[in-house]
Amino acid sequence: MSEHFQVHGGARLVGEVDVVGAKNSVLKLMAAALLAEGTTTLRNCPRILDVPLMGDVLRSLGCEVAIEGDTVQITTPAQLNHRADSASMGKLRASVCVLGPLVGRCKRAVVALPGGDAIGSRPLDMHQSGLRQLGAHSEIEHGCVVAEAEGLHGAQIWLDFPSVGATENILMAAVLANGTTVIDNAAREPEILDLCTMLQQMGGKIEGAGTSTLTVHGVDALQPTEHRVIGDRIVGATWAFAAAMTRGDVTVRGVDPHHLDLVLEKLRLSGAEVTIDDSQTFRVVQRDRPAAVDFVTLPYPGFATDLQPFAVALASVADGTSMITENLFEARFRFIEEMVRLGADARTDGHHAVVRGVERLSSAPVWAPDIRAGVGLVLAGLCADGMTDVWDVFHIDRGYPLFVENMNRLGADVRRI
Ligand code: EPZ
Repeated sequence: MSEHFQVHGGARLVGEVDVVGAKNSVLKLMAAALLAEGTTTLRNCPRILDVPLMGDVLRSLGCEVAIEGDTVQITTPAQLNHRADSASMGKLRASVCVLGPLVGRCKRAVVALPGGDAIGSRPLDMHQSGLRQLGAHSEIEHGCVVAEAEGLHGAQIWLDFPSVGATENILMAAVLANGTTVIDNAAREPEILDLCTMLQQMGGKIEGAGTSTLTVHGVDALQPTEHRVIGDRIVGATWAFAAAMTRGDVTVRGVDPHHLDLVLEKLRLSGAEVTIDDSQTFRVVQRDRPAAVDFVTLPYPGFATDLQPFAVALASVADGTSMITENLFEARFRFIEEMVRLGADARTDGHHAVVRGVERLSSAPVWAPDIRAGVGLVLAGLCADGMTDVWDVFHIDRGYPLFVENMNRLGADVRRI
């Protein structure tokens, strides 16, 4: 029987919480280490399940990986194996980000289709089309993406959609291509900026980091480096929503508040007092019942789809009716059935959810279908009468370091059973 959390309702979260490096950055930075022979050191890494899982993928390619506390060291050999271990690949989505570096450095790659959260169809067509435009052949064979190139050359690449993963893979192939590549309609997430910063430290020539047009001037070789991972804005926002839902007072340290401008504005609209103390600290105080607010998920700088379960959880106890629109992953409302078990008045229709806030949710056993939805259910459990059992919490461990400890430090009563 898998582990579960017992969440006691009625808590008001108060205090300070430290947030460390971002899951959706560190995993890509670990893949980028493949681009340079030698030892790359990453600091401020989160102690989450996905980091050692990514370590296994890199070991299957011939790297040595040492994880000590919040430091990850990756030693990349001169000769890399271009075929990643399928079993390791299947355990997380971010594993697909070894594709670009392998094609960039080895000119060939065989990587099994990745695993990860079942939040919708997650094709790789834009990854492959980008690599093809750089001169690679790429097909899906026997459940693997196979890519091969005599050489890579610069190209003008338009993405149909600002995909995070496709931008990262194309970028990491283009840095070692012959000539200049322009990626238009590129993703602009802070994690992309973090990757660009590290690639520049390794000797990469990239312009426009953080904008929707990335210009990459290929170089012959890159050098290993040392890099501090940016704070996890999704985890930081999780604590902000937790404060708003429990009418609490939480100070979040270790995340750039400007990575959350729209999120914090939405919480202000729901009645929270939000103060930005400095470039790495913000505070959220909610005195009364939150007001209903509408949310629309979009690529950055829009409202992140990873925060959608928290928007639904907030709406489930807010005063009024909220409309939540999911534009990125069509199956990401699946967890709403679990919210209804907790007494939420929520209905979905295609990529819209209508949620009428209730005064109080009521406890029930629920199942976490993925990382963010799992945490959304815990937040709802904090606002429910009685004790809620949240099952399949291994999902939460994949993305949240010291989750139960941090919750209880803020005054909650959550137990890992
Ligand atoms: C990253 O996934 C994150 N995962 C996701 O976080 C996050 O939800 C997502 O970006 C959007 O912000 C990691 O970084 C490991 P995309 P990714 O490529 O790269 C479509 C979490 O909870 N698409 O930007 O897979 C795709 O189907 C996770 O931490 C294509 O159609 O996301 C989706 O609808 C969940 N073809 C949209 O683009 C492609 O080739 C955005 O996907 C690629 C993507």
